[in-house]
Amino acid sequence: NYSWFYLKISTHKFIFAQIVKMNFLEEIKRRRTFGIISHPDAGKTTLTEKLLLFGGAITEAGAVKSNKIKKGATSDFMEIERQRGISVATSVLAFEYNGIKINILDTPGHKDFAEDTFRTLTAVDSVIVVIDVAKGVEEQTEKLVEVCRMRNIPMIVFINKMDREGKDAFELLDEIEQKLKLTVTPLSFPIGMGYDFKGIYNIWEKNINLFSGDSRKNIEETIEINDLNSDELNKLVGDNAAETLREELELVDGIYPSFNHEDYLKGELQPVFFGSALNSFGVRELLDCFVEIAPKPRAKQSEERLVKPDEDNFSGFVFKIHANMDPNHRNRLAFVKIVSGQFKRNTPYLHVRHNKKVKFSSPNAFFAEKKEIVDVSYPGDIVGLQDTGTFKIGDTLTEGEVLNYKGIPSFSPEHFRYINNADPLKSKQLFKGIDQLMDEGVAQLFTLELNGRKVIGTVGALQYEVIQYRLEHEYGAKCTYENLNVYKACWVDPEDKKNEEFKEFLRVKQRFLAKDKRGQLVFLADSAFSLQMTEQKYPSIKFHYVSEFD
Ligand code: G4P
Repeated sequence: NYSWFYLKISTHKFIFAQIVKMNFLEEIKRRRTFGIISHPDAGKTTLTEKLLLFGGAITEAGAVKSNKIKKGATSDFMEIERQRGISVATSVLAFEYNGIKINILDTPGHKDFAEDTFRTLTAVDSVIVVIDVAKGVEEQTEKLVEVCRMRNIPMIVFINKMDREGKDAFELLDEIEQKLKLTVTPLSFPIGMGYDFKGIYNIWEKNINLFSGDSRKNIEETIEINDLNSDELNKLVGDNAAETLREELELVDGIYPSFNHEDYLKGELQPVFFGSALNSFGVRELLDCFVEIAPKPRAKQSEERLVKPDEDNFSGFVFKIHANMDPNHRNRLAFVKIVSGQFKRNTPYLHVRHNKKVKFSSPNAFFAEKKEIVDVSYPGDIVGLQDTGTFKIGDTLTEGEVLNYKGIPSFSPEHFRYINNADPLKSKQLFKGIDQLMDEGVAQLFTLELNGRKVIGTVGALQYEVIQYRLEHEYGAKCTYENLNVYKACWVDPEDKKNEEFKEFLRVKQRFLAKDKRGQLVFLADSAFSLQMTEQKYPSIKFHYVSEFD
């Protein structure tokens, strides 16, 4: 009798475990984590807001704070940071749409914060690239797309502001192929543009949405036509526009490859949509297609092995650290992307770099306008962990296995300055402040080999003011800067550390050598010419502009 009883219990246990596992796999399958990238002003904030409106996550336009820095002034930055301090939720916007959990990761468009965006791109599974129809491919878009292309991140392109006069659709598609080196396939096509913008033909679903009425603002009603050859199309848009559309679609068919899901997922084919985010036009088409084709959480390469999302054990990595600007609450928030398993509240996890177990009593999950404490999060999700200075960008958490996630590189800064202590009584505070700001990824610190002087390298000049302000307001320390003539920081990669050539290099170039925060050797070249000469003179040494190399 007992054995029958135990068999029954273990069968129940087995069935229960199967249900839990199935539920876990379902949760992974329904997640889409992505970033929107663009040059400032192309319409990233407007599009984000419209996506949230469609998802029912917000009820009115204007709810999403624009994170852009208009004039590049420090005061703007501080204002934004203050707002974010109150609502850090803007870093991750999550909502549900048709049963799919969508996580949008915020990427600053301002070029001075490009490195922040590069790091966020290590946590996305796909991206949407927004391009202004009149301005075409702009500088920031080019740089960000290049990073995505190198990592084979699936991309969808949204050509925005079709309600304005802009470039011809074919010309623009050409420009995208040339400048961004993408292979495009339009999944929607505009009918006219600017004043004559009449609507969108949805190639993906094979129907037409037309602007109705005279007003070009906030049109929510659309007219659907399911047959491209119907007379109704002629009646609605006029004979000329109807004929042009038919011809253009024939051209599209002839010129561009048809959509192939595998190629898109491999990062080899990029679907293109047209629309007007401001008027909510073309946004639903984009969203409907996105939830259908965008990748589920993907496997991620660690230094040790490839980690799959459906593995039982939890692992994740820190891709962003957000400082709390309120001096009374100095806690920072570390943003962790969950790669595998389930992240559970109050469970001890291994902080791999410190080789120490840590647990979190109040992990935050993010929603459109708020954050909340959660008990369980799944791969693809982002959790915000309260941090008192134990995390730095790139840190990994696991259930015990030693894993280090790759792909959070530092790029050579563009600006370099010596940092000096302006208040000798506060040197401890200064060093602590510098240390923590560097962990957050605000800038990079280099220590000169010759005399131990500290050099701060940044992507934009704006960060120097930000650092000075934050050192003073958050750490009570004062600093001054001194100019330093550096062209590029190059990570030194010798073929053989013991050969005479490398030893000579260390001796001759001592004055230009420094260590970065991880202790890697860096050559601070003072001009393009001197870098070139050094490369020629020491051919067995490689000089990289990026801190991560194989
Ligand atoms: P960003 O986040 O990429 O920097 O761009 P954002 O959405 O803030 O949009 C930049 C400007 O472009 C905004 O105008 C916005 O209203 C406008 N815009 C966005 N989408 C469209 C569109 O589809 N059509 C047209 N005509 N304009 C669009 P602004 O005047 O700079 O700001 P605001 O005062 O309107 O907020």
